[in-house]
Amino acid sequence: MLTLHGIVELRDYVKHWRITGQKIALVPTMGNLHAGHLRLVERAHDAAEHVVVSIFVNPLQFGPNEDFKSYPRTLDADKIKLTTAGTELLFAPSVDEMYAGDREQITRVDVPELTNILDGKFRPGHFVGMATVVTKLLNMVQPDVALFGEKDYQQLQIIRRLVDDLSLPVEIIGVPTVREADGLAMSSRNQYLTPPERELAPQLFNTLEVLAQELRNGRRDFQRLESEAVRKLSTTGMRPDYVAIRAASTLAVPENRTLNLVVLAAAWLGKARIIDNIQVHTESAQNT
Ligand code: PAJ
Repeated sequence: MLTLHGIVELRDYVKHWRITGQKIALVPTMGNLHAGHLRLVERAHDAAEHVVVSIFVNPLQFGPNEDFKSYPRTLDADKIKLTTAGTELLFAPSVDEMYAGDREQITRVDVPELTNILDGKFRPGHFVGMATVVTKLLNMVQPDVALFGEKDYQQLQIIRRLVDDLSLPVEIIGVPTVREADGLAMSSRNQYLTPPERELAPQLFNTLEVLAQELRNGRRDFQRLESEAVRKLSTTGMRPDYVAIRAASTLAVPENRTLNLVVLAAAWLGKARIIDNIQVHTESAQNT
């Protein structure tokens, strides 16, 4: 596998694939690769002849009190995993390569309806920083398809929307969440959990599953369901930021007749913040 660190070299390399009309897939990551990331890479190989994986811990999407400095960086181990997965090209730029000049002043990409709600309320600036770097990466590689995990559901919806709004010529593929055997969604941040916290962590997914089942059974008292779930998470020892039932395609507060829902949650466990979501397809609301 070839690793490139420069934007000019990356564009040059990918250009040859594009000229011959071969399909290109991009999988953006922040590295510290686990089976969730590798599922995206696998799907990318199914979707296109050539796969570019990027590894870049993006300072623009971390708040001043967040874990940018301590975020796990494991480039050598990541390279071995990607080579085994058959990836041809890794793009691993430095911060200076991605953001020359004053980072405060750079052009940013915002999706106003989606960046400040749910997780965006608790992480100001996070989604604008994420949307900006994803737009840059899409412009650098100009892939035919780009793959993102449903684990970061709001992120995926923001990316779908920005691609649509900015008419970017790329197909976005969402990949279902890869979980540990006990249900915990895989995440690089799970390694911040102490052993007792790790034991507790699947309660987030379990609580969402119970809530999802209530919705499938026909309950539509969304606010009550949300506060019941928050209470339940608090009694386990987690510190929930929110549990929210939303329309799956728009993340808007659902109406009684909205059938495709998503239940999203974020909670603190010690110094780790974990997020999860479940999509719920309900039957006709007239039954309730
Ligand atoms: P990162 O957290 O490294 O995740 C990279 C990609 O892997 C994202 O699309 C994420 O949704 C997906 N992913 C992570 N855990 C997953 C799991 N358990 N199952 C399925 N997919 C999973 O998300 C980011 O990086 C950044 O915000 C990024 C998009 C790279 C922009 O900086």
